[in-house]
Amino acid sequence: MTGKAGIAVFISGSGSNLQALIDASREGRLAGEIVLVISNRAEAYGLVRAQKADIDTFVYDVKKYPDKEAACRDLMELLEEYQVDYIALAGYLKLLPDALVTKYRGRITNIHPALLPRFGGKGMYGHHVHEAVLASGESETGATVHLVDEIYDNGRILLQGKVPIIPGDTPDTLAARVLEMEHKIYPEALDNLIKGMYK
Ligand code: GAR
Repeated sequence: MTGKAGIAVFISGSGSNLQALIDASREGRLAGEIVLVISNRAEAYGLVRAQKADIDTFVYDVKKYPDKEAACRDLMELLEEYQVDYIALAGYLKLLPDALVTKYRGRITNIHPALLPRFGGKGMYGHHVHEAVLASGESETGATVHLVDEIYDNGRILLQGKVPIIPGDTPDTLAARVLEMEHKIYPEALDNLIKGMYK
């Protein structure tokens, strides 16, 4: 027991935002400790990052349970066991069960690779977002950290960071620029939230 807020990070892929949160926590820039990393995909590279940082991991595969209720119960028990106070979604591409959202309301964050409320919603993840942003002819984009509710990308916006769109950008070059901003604002927003700075 550290007395710090316990954070569970949910991932589906590379986990570079998870890495930014791990680094911030280790460097004292995040008022919490990552106690558990959960992935819906066993092959997500973020699980390797967690293991390298000596953080426990769990693969949450709803299909392994008899029904959604049993899956949700198991997940909630696990979060209790690890004394999780905050949940940070970091490239987690599934919707959380309603019971979990209800229990942790106001304590679940997500990072989105655009300036919400534009370019959000179901199906808007990863390259789909950057392709839509480029097609829109906007001159800037960015990243958003927001609270999670029952609807995709809908909860209160906590922090945004803008980046320019440069002529000749492709979804890849834009994604890289936005990702760099994500790594800056996610630890900061989560730190602010844990410190009670969003009233
Ligand atoms: C990030 O760009 C994140 O904003 C995005 O997935 C990527 C995960 O990268 N999330 C969404 O699009 C959610 N709608 P990471 O695994 O390297 O952190």
